[in-house]
Amino acid sequence: MIDDSQLWQEIYEQDRLFDLDRRLPENPLVAVAAGIRKNSIAIEGGAFGDEGKGKIVDELCSRFARHFGALIVYRWNGGANAGHTIEFEGKRIALHQLPSGAFTPGAIVILGKGMVVHPGDVVTEMHEVERVTGQALPARLLIDALAVLALDTHRAFEAQLKMWASGGKGATGRGISPAYADVLLRHPVRAGDLQAADWRDRLGRHYDLYAALIGGLGGTLAETEVPSLAGKYPVGAKAVFLDRLAVQRDALLPYIQDVHQLVFDAWNNSEIPFVFEGAQAVGLDPRFGVYPDVTASDPTFGGILHSTEGIVHPAQIAVKAGAIKATYTSSVGTRRLPTLMDEPLANRIREDAHEYGATTRRPRDIAYIDLPCLRFFARVSGMTHLVLTHLDIAYADTPIRVCTHYTDEHGQVAPYRPDQNALNRMAPHYLELPSWDGAQVRGLKTLEELPPEAIRYVAFLCRALDVTPIFGTTGPQRDAILSWIP
Ligand code: IMP
Repeated sequence: MIDDSQLWQEIYEQDRLFDLDRRLPENPLVAVAAGIRKNSIAIEGGAFGDEGKGKIVDELCSRFARHFGALIVYRWNGGANAGHTIEFEGKRIALHQLPSGAFTPGAIVILGKGMVVHPGDVVTEMHEVERVTGQALPARLLIDALAVLALDTHRAFEAQLKMWASGGKGATGRGISPAYADVLLRHPVRAGDLQAADWRDRLGRHYDLYAALIGGLGGTLAETEVPSLAGKYPVGAKAVFLDRLAVQRDALLPYIQDVHQLVFDAWNNSEIPFVFEGAQAVGLDPRFGVYPDVTASDPTFGGILHSTEGIVHPAQIAVKAGAIKATYTSSVGTRRLPTLMDEPLANRIREDAHEYGATTRRPRDIAYIDLPCLRFFARVSGMTHLVLTHLDIAYADTPIRVCTHYTDEHGQVAPYRPDQNALNRMAPHYLELPSWDGAQVRGLKTLEELPPEAIRYVAFLCRALDVTPIFGTTGPQRDAILSWIP
């Protein structure tokens, strides 16, 4: 077990930096042990979402495309509930279902079997990319025929559930959990159903089922308004629903295929780099997060195994990087983090880092770094590396507080548990670490320029979590990225 106080002494008193003040001696994507697939990297949200990992995926895609000319970007979970903004030649565009690699020529971007896909929103996003780039999608898009559809029916069902005191809490309204629930109930509709000659019958039966379910809740499917990237609209009668889908189906059919063999062949050719792009974050996992602020998919690296049908075992992936905000944690929803930050510092961070919900503008909760929680997330997801975002959110006059352990109501040291009742009983214990001037760090692109306090802090955090840093971000600009890769 790592002793944080001893680590503090080593790093801050003896100035032992474990070589984390410089680039790694070898590229972990290339110098791999036996059984590890070269040129493979997976990135997941390492905390509660909104960590800002899109920029790193973007950077990786550009690097790989420059070096290899081709790559695969594979998304294994979630659907239209995700979102990040990327910059293309000075223009900003929000992506939800398309992975960041959508802008990389030479990339094959795969919406994997583990996803739940909303056809209408995918089409809107593709149009948006066309508008911004002035051309068709630069990457080659593939939608796995076995990916589940998350339709307006699911959005309507979720909207109706929310009207009940005991249901539907905390969802984004994108029909994510009803679509995943269809799988467990053994009646999912999949992208491949759109390819079938009798697709109208299949989707019509699906409509009837949801009309009945929503009727049971006291609502009417046709009249229920659902959100979409193209605006809000009522689902409409069955014919309206099917006609709307028919247009989307025409647009998407060229992209839907069984990707199994392609993924198998590409994975077995280590000269084709793989970037696995996760959505949401470990803290939103239904098993490892705190109900009700959890999503229905598997946002951990473990989800890759099932989405690729066992072709890719996470243990074979060279780098499994969790993205976290370097100096604090943010969270939306009703969960109460044990390390919630005091004002006015929380508000200072909220303003400086624009910590407001992207769609709702709701102020996000800001918390101190919580090592017991992050260790739990690192373990359950099998993180090997760390992406440290927002290194510029630090203040020379305010030390960084890091929770090293909790004690329970009996004063006993107690572990992190993904259970709000247990967490409510925990008293956090902090170390205060010397900080740096974030403004000085903003926009930095080389490790050597980082102030010594930032280097020591990164060394401390990474040693405490037993992971290696691989990328850092130092500001909102697209190129404000530090890399530990040689
Ligand atoms: P759902 O994914 O729509 O079912 O929403 C369930 C929970 O996950 C809600 O508390 C959302 O706020 C949260 N959530 C889903 N996607 C994201 C995300 O990309 N960032 C942050 N929170 C998210």
